[in-house]
Amino acid sequence: MTVRVGVLGATGAVGQRLIQLLEPHPEFEIAALTASDESAGHPYRDVAKWRIDTPIPEEVGEMTVTATTPEAVPDDVPLLFSSLPSSVGAKVETPFCEAGYVVSSNSSNARMESDVPLVIPEVNGDHFEALEIQREERGWDGALVKNPNCSTITFVPTLAALAEAGIGLETVHVATLQAVSGAGYDGVTSMEIIDNAIPHIGSEEAKLETESRKLLGEFDGTALADHEMEVAASCNRIPTIDGHLENVWIETSEDPSPEEVREAFAEYPSLSLHSSPEPLIHVFEDPERPQPRLDRTVGDGMAIAAGGVRESTFGIQYNCLAHNTLRGAAGASVLNGELLVEEGYV
Ligand SMILES: NC(=O)c1ccc[n+]([C@@H]2O[C@H](COP(=O)([O-])OP(=O)(O)OC[C@H]3O[C@@H](n4cnc5c(N)ncnc54)[C@H](OP(=O)(O)O)[C@@H]3O)[C@@H](O)[C@H]2O)c1
Repeated sequence: MTVRVGVLGATGAVGQRLIQLLEPHPEFEIAALTASDESAGHPYRDVAKWRIDTPIPEEVGEMTVTATTPEAVPDDVPLLFSSLPSSVGAKVETPFCEAGYVVSSNSSNARMESDVPLVIPEVNGDHFEALEIQREERGWDGALVKNPNCSTITFVPTLAALAEAGIGLETVHVATLQAVSGAGYDGVTSMEIIDNAIPHIGSEEAKLETESRKLLGEFDGTALADHEMEVAASCNRIPTIDGHLENVWIETSEDPSPEEVREAFAEYPSLSLHSSPEPLIHVFEDPERPQPRLDRTVGDGMAIAAGGVRESTFGIQYNCLAHNTLRGAAGASVLNGELLVEEGYV
C-alpha cells in the first residue's frame, strides 16, 4: 500500500528535488502539487523551471498545480512535504495541520517551537513523541514536523556519533563553506559569487547554534531539554553548486584520540528506512577529502562524509560534508515522512 502525498512549493529548488525523490519511491505516490497563485491552474511542466539533471517525470509534468490551501488538496492525501519560503510556511502550515494533514516541512518557521519536533531520524527520531503533546495542546488532527537547516544537518550527525560513543560534548566551533543552491535559484547572482566568497548568510549562524542543541536534547515524555554544549558558527557562501563543507572544532570532557573519533563516526548506526544510507557517516582517511564535487553523492546524497580528523589545540578537529538539497532538504523531509509512516503518525 502506498501513501498518497503532496508537495507544497513544488515548483521551487527543493520542491523539484522532492519530486525527484518521491516519484520512484516505493512507499509514496505523488497526488498533489501546490505553488503560488501565479502557478496555480497550470500544468506543472509549464510553471516549474526544471533544473534537475533527471527529466521531469512524465505524469508529474501533466499534473495541474493548485493553490497552497487545504481546500485545494484532496482529503485522501494525508502526508504533505513542505518546501515553501518560511514567511509563506508560517502562514499556511497551521491551516493544513488544523485540517488534518501531517506536514513534513523544510521551512525554518516554527523549528524552535517546543512542541514541534525538529528531527533527523538517525539522530533523534524519538522526538516525534512530542506530537502527542502538539496534537493535544493545539487541537490538531494533523501534525507539523520539521527537518533542520541544511548546514545543521551536515554536522549534527557527527556530534551525535561522538555522544553515542560516550564522548561528552562541551564546546563546538563550526565554519561552513556553503553551496549556492542552498540560497534557492534567486539567492545569489553570478556577479556576486563567481571568483568570490561571502562571509555572511542571513540568520544561518543562529540556526546552527540553536537547532543543534535542540536536536541533541533529551525528550523526557513531557518536555524537551536542549543539550548543554556551547556552539559557535561562522557561515560562508562559496561558488560550489551543491554540497556544504564544514570545518568543526570540538572540546570534550574526555580526550579522544583521532582514531577513536574516526571509529565513533564509522560505527554510528543508520536506520532501515528506505532513504537511510548505510553507513550514515562515510569516513575518509585521505586528509584532502571530503570535497563537494567528489563526495556530495556518497550514499546517494543521503550520507554524511567526514575526514581530516586530527588533534587541535582545543581537542579534535575534522571536516564534514553533506548534499544540501538531498540530505539537507528534500531527502531530510522524505526521511522524516518515512519514519512518520513507520511509527503510525500518518
Ligand atoms: N535550497 C536549499 O538547499 C534549502 C535547504 C534547506 C531548506 N530550504 C528551505 O526550503 C524552502 C524552499 O526553498 P527553495 O530554495 O526551494 O525556494 P524556491 O526555489 O524559491 O521555491 C519556493 C516555492 O514556494 C512557492 N511559493 C512562493 N511564494 C508562495 C506563496 N505566497 N504561496 C504559495 N507558494 C509560494 C514557489 O512557487 P512559485 O514557483 O509559484 O513561485 C515555489 O514552489 C525555504 O524555506 C528554504 O529556506 C532550502
